[in-house]
Amino acid sequence: MSDVKKLAVIGAGQMGGGIAQIAAQAGIEVVVFDSFAAGLEKCKALRAKLFARAVEKGKMTQEDADAATARISYVESLDAISGSDWVVEAIVEDKGVKFDLFGKLAQMFPDENVVLASNTSSISITEIATSAGDAASRVVGMHFFNPVPVMKLVEVIKGMQTSEQVVSRTIALAERMGKTPLPANDRPGFVSNRVLMPLINEAFYALMEGVAEPEAIDGIMQLGCAHPMGPLRLADFIGLDTCVNIMHVMLEGLGNPKYAPCPLLKQYVAAGRLGDKTGMGVYDYSKK
Ligand code: CAA
Ligand code: NAD
Repeated sequence: MSDVKKLAVIGAGQMGGGIAQIAAQAGIEVVVFDSFAAGLEKCKALRAKLFARAVEKGKMTQEDADAATARISYVESLDAISGSDWVVEAIVEDKGVKFDLFGKLAQMFPDENVVLASNTSSISITEIATSAGDAASRVVGMHFFNPVPVMKLVEVIKGMQTSEQVVSRTIALAERMGKTPLPANDRPGFVSNRVLMPLINEAFYALMEGVAEPEAIDGIMQLGCAHPMGPLRLADFIGLDTCVNIMHVMLEGLGNPKYAPCPLLKQYVAAGRLGDKTGMGVYDYSKK
């Protein structure tokens, strides 16, 4: 059983918020930091809404919801996460930004018991660990799935420098959070996105080439292949910017042009249509 007492989540977006929520539900104190103050407010409001809905549906008692809410604090300075014994990074899928953060985290957390985990979708854990210098053996991939409170999996990625003990502790923490951990090696996109992103990209090619309308592409994959969401809807849900970033990591890391993002997908991102999070992607969510 994991003995983590205080977990820091960096990045209060879709993933960070969900990770904070399930950690608090597992009885862990959580501190959430985001460099964007409005992101913290949005994250807090969404947690309140989800806890209220769970109580309404009888899936959680009001007492448990209040206790979980009270376990989460939101801070506007990175320094305020000090004292944590586990960090999960869930910021933008950008190598430079993540490397910079892990350099800072290594300085902030010299204690060799503190684990520095990344929720990256695709970026090399070995490279992130290298940016953490002496703390490299404490860096691990802890890849949750969206929506975090619902999806059962945590993909656990061991970088070349990650210690076996850190991997075991990551598995224990994922289980304590109610998840099923499964291992994947440190290759671009690991298993999940190596398989998922080509599907999403192909759906954008089908759309770009006029094979069918978005609703038909998604409907065909839902009704014909039993996917809970069609690939275009799923891309909006993940974030089209995140999809493009993941494809670039795979393109660069695997050196195969088949991973290059479809021009239409890139065009949506260039237009600021990033999916659910901006209210508009392939579909319009502004009236939801
Ligand atoms: N946050 C938290 N909970 C959410 C949620 C969210 N954003 N969206 C839905 N839920 C919860 C609902 O509250 C509901 O919970 P209860 O049953 O306890 O009430 C449950 O999910 C089902 O929701 P709905 O009935 O509203 O809708 P649904 O049955 O259509 O399911 C879904 C919604 C779970 C998202 C489902 O469509 C699904 O599984 N979609 C596929 C998701 C998927 O493939 N995720 C992986 C993305 S890839 C990734 O994460 C890795 C990466 O690196 C990019
Ligand atoms: P998001 O855009 O919803 O949220 C990212 C948050 O990070 C934003 O609130 C932003 O303000 C904050 N941020 C950016 N740079 C920061 C910094 N330097 N310091 C502090 N905060 C910073 O993104 P997301 O979808 O939550 O994705 C976060 C990470 O999780 C990415 O690495 C992504 O690849 C990965 N991931 C995403 C999904 C998904 O379905 N969206 C699934 C699994 C993993």
